Amino acid sequence: MPSLHTSLECATRVALVVLIAASTAVALGATDASPLCVPGAGAPNGGDLSMFHPASPPAAEIREVAWLVLGICAGILVIVEGALIWSVCKYRRRAGVEGEPRQVFGSNPIEIAWTVIPIIIVFVLALTTVRTIGEVQLTKPPEGALEVDVIGHQWWWEYRLKNHHREGSIVTANELVVPMGRPVWLRLESADVIHSWWVPRLNGKTDVIPGHTGATWFRADEQGTFLGQCAEYCGTQHANMLLRVTAVDPQAFDAWCAVQGSAPVNDPSVAQGRDIFLGLACANCHAIDGLCDGAFGPNLTHLMTRETLGAGVAPMDARSLRAWVADPQTLKPGCNMPSLKLDDSQLDHVVAFLTTLK
Ligand code: CUA
Repeated sequence: MPSLHTSLECATRVALVVLIAASTAVALGATDASPLCVPGAGAPNGGDLSMFHPASPPAAEIREVAWLVLGICAGILVIVEGALIWSVCKYRRRAGVEGEPRQVFGSNPIEIAWTVIPIIIVFVLALTTVRTIGEVQLTKPPEGALEVDVIGHQWWWEYRLKNHHREGSIVTANELVVPMGRPVWLRLESADVIHSWWVPRLNGKTDVIPGHTGATWFRADEQGTFLGQCAEYCGTQHANMLLRVTAVDPQAFDAWCAVQGSAPVNDPSVAQGRDIFLGLACANCHAIDGLCDGAFGPNLTHLMTRETLGAGVAPMDARSLRAWVADPQTLKPGCNMPSLKLDDSQLDHVVAFLTTLK
């Protein structure tokens, strides 16, 4: 009969292995299906933040390495824990056996085996990783790439693209539209602290560092909206610094560019709201082409073409917009936009004006 002590030890080992295997399975499952609580998450491809469903070459490369590393590590886990459980059970102290078992000191074949095998494993992992880094982190834009400047702000994303329709650039926030099948080259800068641009189905994380211009690339090979998230803790609203990249066919992309590059809508029926907007602090922080040029907050020239507001905290509609303008702190506590304490009538006018910005 095995003693209580050895049985307990054996049981503990088995429980530990089961626990590790279970938590790995749960972690893998969680990565597969943990939709962010974002509006529009039911859109095509919406909600899928899994790096195991790549839609872009760098993301596919990263998945290959992830599977290789997981596979090798799972193999090591099974072999080491299997050998451990087998020896603990087979060589446990049995009833009636006195004294210590035979002691073995050194074995050249075993020493060589457990030195050489790990070296080969590390070598394989290192070479594969280096090759993948080379393919994921290009040093210059791929041929024919769409070039986009990305600026991370607390707590939203600014995008700047060359405007092919008139002078200047297209400036938008949080939601980027790209042509499907064409490489996109991102140049990343920060306006304040370190952020990280991460759309798991398109690419790995790229840190956005103050005083440094980083770069990354992706190519959306399927149509749809890809969600992402700032992946470097950057303050109170880090969790609400969401990303949306929508890949469309080239004609739809040209149409989007034409709208984003056009002059703002000038609707005389909302002149009162526009005057309130321009007369208050709004105009110091936000830009609307031809009206005001604040650079601290998102450009609002074509605000209503976006699906969400506040970098993904609410859907873009008149109701959310009213709640946001009334007091941004209720939707996004800690954000840098203050409540301007507008009364109901002022709110109605400002929101009516903003909803014309299509
Ligand atoms: Cu920006 Cu976290």
